[in-house]
Amino acid sequence: MNPLNELIQARLTQGPVPAADVMALGLYHPEHGYYRRTKGPWGFEGKDYYTALDLGPLLGQTLALRLEAAWERLGRPGRFTALEPGAGRGWLGRDVLNAVSGPFAEALVYVHRDDSPAARYAAEQALAPFLTANRARFAAESEPLDPFVGAVFSNELFDALPAQPWRWEGECWTREVLTDRGPEWQAADPGEAGAWFASQSDGLEPKDGSVWCAGLPELVQELVAPLQAGLFLAVDYGEPADRLLAKGADLRRFKAHSVDGKWHEDLGEADLTADVDFTRLATLLQSHGLTDLTHMELSKWVRTHAPLDLWGADWMAMPAPERKARTENLLQLTLPGMLGSRFRVLEGWRR
Ligand SMILES: C[S@@+](CC[C@H](N)C(=O)[O-])C[C@H]1O[C@@H](n2cnc3c(N)ncnc32)[C@H](O)[C@@H]1O
Repeated sequence: MNPLNELIQARLTQGPVPAADVMALGLYHPEHGYYRRTKGPWGFEGKDYYTALDLGPLLGQTLALRLEAAWERLGRPGRFTALEPGAGRGWLGRDVLNAVSGPFAEALVYVHRDDSPAARYAAEQALAPFLTANRARFAAESEPLDPFVGAVFSNELFDALPAQPWRWEGECWTREVLTDRGPEWQAADPGEAGAWFASQSDGLEPKDGSVWCAGLPELVQELVAPLQAGLFLAVDYGEPADRLLAKGADLRRFKAHSVDGKWHEDLGEADLTADVDFTRLATLLQSHGLTDLTHMELSKWVRTHAPLDLWGADWMAMPAPERKARTENLLQLTLPGMLGSRFRVLEGWRR
């Protein structure tokens, strides 16, 4: 039997387990959690899901331009640290490092932060030339970070944090729990989450609901604290708070490239994700003094910041297979209904 299913069965003998606790166990159990296993869950073949990085380098290339703009705005410091929490295989860092040149490239040091052993192994390969040249390094999640000037960026970090689904039933809130009969919605006091949801809606209708990530404030605090000045940028699944409430957000399970709501099955062997509440993320960042906060669909962010005319001209000089791959990468990131319309990009500035 799957060791995490055994663990959860033992816990169920003491009563229902909130969905967020099941998600925490499935993803981060120190030995059997999906993100603590030694074998990687990424990529197209024989894996569970792909991210924007599997589609090609355009996300990294656009990000490289945003980082360079931040470096300019900071007055071109001699050292620009770019910290990536939840860095996974290090592909986004690699694509950024491949895209930069000149004095900005000399100033940029990329820091990969992700305790997943499979991620670390894959990142050692992806970042090898940059590690050797001291243009990239690893930082354990427990390593206290010295203050730095530069940027904190992430792709699909916040959607991998344990989150609790809540639903308004007209007279009371219910939360999703696992019982020995299977998943159920049970009445409970949402505390802080209830006050937040109520403040983000003109009037809740029965079945409205959202997900509440209890660990978000602590992680935001941890990531923002060492950033003395510069850019905070997060790319993630999610929407503003009012839209999540109206759609009744819940947890999703990704297994072998199919997605469903069976968050309690195959624990440790399937990825679990929750939509990110971008309104709350922006509010938390603002409470730490970040300014200029904006968030928009990834497709719009790419169209706003990528020099598509220039890139188009460069691609014309590439061999046909590469040209086709770049075009597909662009379409995936910008066409309605594709990945770029399901993701958002948040940017904020630390003075
Ligand atoms: C969905 S994966 C995304 C990986 C990568 N960014 C990508 O796009 O392929 C989420 C990653 O976040 C990591 N993670 C979760 N909590 C973290 C934290 N507090 N600090 C750093 N990494 C974390 C997990 O180990 C996992 O590798």
